[in-house]
Amino acid sequence: MPVISYAPDAGVWLLSTPRTSYALRTDTTGAPCHLAWGPRLTLEEAQELAAPQAPPASSFEGRSPVGEELPVDGGARYGTPSLQVRFADGTRAFEWQPAGHRVHEPEPGSQELALEFSDRHYPLTVTLHYRVYADSDVIERWTRLRNTGNDPLVLLRADSAAWTLPSREDYRLSHVTGQWSAESQLRREQLPFGETVLTSRRGITSHHANPWVMLDAGDATEEHGQVWSAALAWSGGWRVTVQRTPDGRACFTGGAGHDGASLTLGPGEQFLTPVHAGLHSEGGFGAASRAWHAYTLAHVLPHPDETQPVLYNSWEATGFDVDAAGQKALAARAAKLGVELYVMDDGWFGGRRSERAGLGDWTASRDRFPEGLSPLVAEVHRLGMRFGLWVEPEMVNPDSDLYREHPDWVLHFPHRTRTELRSQLVLNFARRDVAEWAYGWLTRLVGEHGIDFLKWDMNRAFSEAGWPERHGDADQVGTAYVRNLYEVIDRLRADHPALRIETCSGGGGRVDLGILSRTDQAWTSDNTDASDRVAIQHGYSQIYPARTMAAWVTDVPNQLTGRSVPLRFRFHVAMAGVLGIGGDLTRWSDAELAEGAELVAEYKRVRPLVQHGVMHRPRGPVDDGPAAVQYTSPDRSEALLLVWQRGPRHGSPRTPLRLAGLDPRARYRDTRTGTVHSANVLTGYGILPELPPGDWASTAVHLIRVP
Ligand code: GLA
Repeated sequence: MPVISYAPDAGVWLLSTPRTSYALRTDTTGAPCHLAWGPRLTLEEAQELAAPQAPPASSFEGRSPVGEELPVDGGARYGTPSLQVRFADGTRAFEWQPAGHRVHEPEPGSQELALEFSDRHYPLTVTLHYRVYADSDVIERWTRLRNTGNDPLVLLRADSAAWTLPSREDYRLSHVTGQWSAESQLRREQLPFGETVLTSRRGITSHHANPWVMLDAGDATEEHGQVWSAALAWSGGWRVTVQRTPDGRACFTGGAGHDGASLTLGPGEQFLTPVHAGLHSEGGFGAASRAWHAYTLAHVLPHPDETQPVLYNSWEATGFDVDAAGQKALAARAAKLGVELYVMDDGWFGGRRSERAGLGDWTASRDRFPEGLSPLVAEVHRLGMRFGLWVEPEMVNPDSDLYREHPDWVLHFPHRTRTELRSQLVLNFARRDVAEWAYGWLTRLVGEHGIDFLKWDMNRAFSEAGWPERHGDADQVGTAYVRNLYEVIDRLRADHPALRIETCSGGGGRVDLGILSRTDQAWTSDNTDASDRVAIQHGYSQIYPARTMAAWVTDVPNQLTGRSVPLRFRFHVAMAGVLGIGGDLTRWSDAELAEGAELVAEYKRVRPLVQHGVMHRPRGPVDDGPAAVQYTSPDRSEALLLVWQRGPRHGSPRTPLRLAGLDPRARYRDTRTGTVHSANVLTGYGILPELPPGDWASTAVHLIRVP
């Protein structure tokens, strides 16, 4: 500190983080322009980069689509606009006029720059916000738009930020794609020329893409090279457009909403975008991931210092077939395994016997819980566990009392089909009354029963996302919905400070920095097949920390894939995140229960490393060789190496796994074998952990520094 500095004569701003710099200036037209994002610079050095803008090369060129902090629709600009407005008289071009700046310290250890602009003629102010931290290279950016006039104006696009990369001969884009039960499939491909759009039109973050990108010059590896990355803190529809221009530049812009929406901003109203956080890092994709994990722990999660309990979830054991006696039987066995949080999943309320009915009627079914939920909660507490409950507050089955009473509460358009997915419709959380109703029953339910944990689910994508009562601004639904959702969760947390929440959307359909700032962990995927899970967890770990990645050990053959893998392998894969158990414990043999209890105890020993340590990926799930992940305690006194060998091919190379991040002068003892290894050997030459022959072999190597 100070980390934000200014050269008034050159109009250059420099934001410095511990290892990186970000520089910008306002150009002669008044537009905020990018100068640098990379290794540390001094303010003098940053000014060297402020060369005058070259005139367009022909009458067919305008301003470069790359290099502005928030490219607008206006002037001779032909790239993707980050900001597109329509004023009351129909004018659509925005013209920048600087209107001042503010630097302040929102809290110790961070500084914020607000650059203010207005339109040269029309009553719209645009404030670009930048926040930097003393302990992170992540830079948070967001934009505030305010209508200062007397007429409404329309926002056709309002991204949080645009990010510019330095010139490179090539660019590569890393991101994830997927679908339900196959989230977070990592893609790493050469960035095509033109515009590449990553988006969710589903009203949620989505299983199909996740709002983060990593770009490199095509030369980064897991451990080496420069990487520019960014993640959006938003849980609704979103769009990130990456551009590569013919002259070899690259940039990207991102924000809430996808295409075709127009948000009316009334007189005096403002629109605040979500945060788009960016990071430049050296040290490859691994270092980028570690920086995102550290940032998420330090500045996103509400209770980062807590250690997440080992949970049990009843879903795969019982499906919708839940009742007090069955849950108590499972809870008794879970407690014996060492479980610390017992979660009753779907099926406990209203007429919920299948996915076809009951959503919306949030009182315990009388026939299944004749005395309500309290006796079960009391029993779980008596067994020494916390009690968690599944809820899906944003949904309704047409076959429910709620829908019969309030058919107008769902997202819909008049004269249009109400498309059902999983036999359910989406409640319009953008409506105040709907959000109030949800807050009301949730806070009563949690308070009256002493519920410690909610699994907050959301099980279908939006469709016909209209708001007929507000036909003038049906386009507000997407943003108003998410804001009200956030507000309901925030109020619930404020009412019940001990309540912890898991974000779930049919697995990992709503995982992002926005929801993670108000929940404690995420249900990573409905796919609990440990073999598939290795790739899902690999993609998840690119940005999000293990401390948030819930992973259950379930039964075989796996309900989804039919694959059978050993209990040990299932545990070793789930131990890479927040361990949970999701099998039918009443069918586990004594031997399985004993092995399970041992592995739960082993997890508890290494859990501080997994949940609060530093992650390295010695080997990703790239081929038929073993994949491995390493967690090291912040003081480097302990490390855990988890190795998973899926289907080995006879004769495939056996490459030692090189560890990282150890104390270079130290020696480490393998707690199982007693073997002592030098850190230099472990990191410079690697080890070949012993694996039993055959498919689905795995091991957990726990190393402790020799005093
Ligand atoms: C979703 C969740 C599952 C389970 C079911 C219950 O699919 O991801 O874990 O809770 O809903 O209906």
